[in-house]
Amino acid sequence: MRTIKIFDTTLRDGEQSPGASMNISEKLQVANALTELGADIIEAGFAVASPGDFESVRTVADTVKGSSVCSLARCVEKDIDAAADALKNAEQPRIHVFLATSPIHREYKLRMTTEKNIESAVAGVKYARKFCGDVEFSAEDATRTEIDHLCRVVEAVIDAGATTVNIPDTVGYATPIEMYERIKALFDRVPNVGKTVISVHNHNDLGMAVATSLAAVRAGAGQVECTINGLGERAGNCSLEEIVMALKTRNDVYDAGTRIITQKLVPTSRLVSTVTGLKVPRNKAIVGQNAFAHESGIHQDGMLKNPTTYEIMQPCDVGFQKTDLVLGKHSGRAALADRAKTLGCDLDTVQLGKVFEEFKKLADRKKNIYDEDILALIEQEIHERKDPYISRCCQAACQTAEWSLVSYDLRCRTGKEPQVRLTLRNGDREYTRETSGGDGPVDALFFAVKEITGADISIKEYSVQSVTNGEDAQGDVTILINRSGETYRGHGVSTDTIEASTVAILNAVNRSGSAISR
Ligand code: KIV
Ligand code: ZN
Repeated sequence: MRTIKIFDTTLRDGEQSPGASMNISEKLQVANALTELGADIIEAGFAVASPGDFESVRTVADTVKGSSVCSLARCVEKDIDAAADALKNAEQPRIHVFLATSPIHREYKLRMTTEKNIESAVAGVKYARKFCGDVEFSAEDATRTEIDHLCRVVEAVIDAGATTVNIPDTVGYATPIEMYERIKALFDRVPNVGKTVISVHNHNDLGMAVATSLAAVRAGAGQVECTINGLGERAGNCSLEEIVMALKTRNDVYDAGTRIITQKLVPTSRLVSTVTGLKVPRNKAIVGQNAFAHESGIHQDGMLKNPTTYEIMQPCDVGFQKTDLVLGKHSGRAALADRAKTLGCDLDTVQLGKVFEEFKKLADRKKNIYDEDILALIEQEIHERKDPYISRCCQAACQTAEWSLVSYDLRCRTGKEPQVRLTLRNGDREYTRETSGGDGPVDALFFAVKEITGADISIKEYSVQSVTNGEDAQGDVTILINRSGETYRGHGVSTDTIEASTVAILNAVNRSGSAISR
């Protein structure tokens, strides 16, 4: 089996995504994550482009150990000087020179003849070789270059000392079969091709970047250039996580693998998404939130019987903890029974039938069905029918709520402690407290809830998510509280996030069994 080199260009081509710019410390964080992931080469930037780019390349080159660090440069001396200077302390430096070779670029951008084109490419490679033993040459727009000219350029740059020759599909135009044929032609026609590594760098304008990269590997390419989350100029580059998992999952077809530690794909994807602010779509292959989530009843039933029915990879192989059987309107009895069991309620067939009926009605009204909703349904159905059977865990989880919110009046001002007047109901009595203090509005309300209920609790985790998009989106708050060493979860949804937070706190207090009568 061949080992394909993974050349990551998240910090260079990825950063060319509009809105994806990163500062030096963020770039360093990403570079360290890429090394831990097992990327063979990290393209840290385009040193000559700006003082900031130079500093980024230099900082990454000075720090990273274990992966090659590379800088891009045009085939001009001042670019190559800057690249060499920025890389001078790198453990494994690589200079990456490029020149467009296609007729469109030669005629309109470079105003260059074919002979001059070859001459400039050769001069660039030779000059870079003076500083570095590892030089990559990229024939920009190679897939729209006449094949005879491309073969001549490739042969000449190999003779000039290029250790890697990259054949980019700069505008994402090639089809997989064309890419296969182009790479195959280079192997068949360029006499010295064996002295270099052939690489591809494919853009995703037609959504084919991963497919064209796989086709190139099939034809003999030994390096793939890619980015985390498929970031990159316009529609982006070949996605690292997709190409790596395609090679791993279908190695029966490609007989090739990579050095990537695939369990680190999801954490790396999340890091890049956080530092760039570019969200990963839920349905993104491999690292999207839905990549291992199943909602259809038929699929969930199959998954519970044997995960290979609907999953070709294991979630833990890419860094997710587990498969997510999302409960929603398409879910079936098997998934509901399984979730109830996980929550401690072993339902018999009659109980399940009844709960399932109510669950379907609820799912029509509510997009997300949470564990608390399931517990509430079970409690309602089982209690109403006065069923003698309720498991111990289920009883504990199905505590009847005691405290509820009547009203709050909250005042927050810059530089001042928040003030709150909170009224709660317990049974038919209402309790009001006025308090001040806390780090913010939620903290202030939490303090007031403690005052009124007398529950000795602390917040372990607090998160708020928007249920839908838009100005009228509901805030969906989940809170974990600690009480006497036990953790209890609370949940609240409202268009008013403060109200949702208070309801979530009370929900957790009630579940913790706070029956303090005052
Ligand atoms: O897309 C492209 O052709 C490039 C080269 C500089 C490699 O990014
Ligand atoms: Zn590119």
